Amino acid sequence: MAESRTRILHTVEDTEAFGRELAGQLRAGDLVVLDGPLGAGKTALTRGIAAGLGVRGRVSSPTFIIARAHRAGQRPDGSPGVAMVHVDAYRLAGDLDELDALDLDTDLHHAVVVVEWGKGVVEHLAERHLRVQLAREPESDVRTAIWEWIG
Ligand SMILES: Nc1ncnc2c1ncn2[C@@H]1O[C@H](COP(=O)(O)OP(=O)(O)OP(=O)(O)O)[C@@H](O)[C@H]1O
Ligand SMILES: [Mg+2]
Repeated sequence: MAESRTRILHTVEDTEAFGRELAGQLRAGDLVVLDGPLGAGKTALTRGIAAGLGVRGRVSSPTFIIARAHRAGQRPDGSPGVAMVHVDAYRLAGDLDELDALDLDTDLHHAVVVVEWGKGVVEHLAERHLRVQLAREPESDVRTAIWEWIG
């Protein structure tokens, strides 16, 4: 049985550090589903995951593209890194044909796939996934992350 865990993230740096920590348990083939409202910190968390995986290229909030592939580099401890594909499914709005066209199941052979706004849309792509739910209070920098492996 998967157990969910909670973390309070006081600053954006905390969120990035949490992402680096999560990356320690991620391998090629792992799917990460990030959920939470606009500005909750999904991209910030992805930046931390990218740093922990040691991928190349800057993580940004993709405005015109839906998926961005980052090549593998080196993990912070010097061990071989793993590639990452960063998907923003916001504009997919659950369109399964468009999702199919992204060919994420192929990416999952060699990369970690991180999907913002992917809840309820991408879970079928892998046998199990790491779900991270980010919540925020109005007028506050504090975020709460609840995460669990599902499947
Ligand atoms: N504790 C925190 N964790 C993450 N981000 C924070 C925190 N405190 C403040 N912020 C700010 O909140 C914003 C989070 O933006 P981010 O793009 O990561 O959110 P998002 O969930 O990806 O949004 P979107 O749904 O638009 O993609 C950034 O401007 C960041 O600096
Ligand atoms: Mg984002």
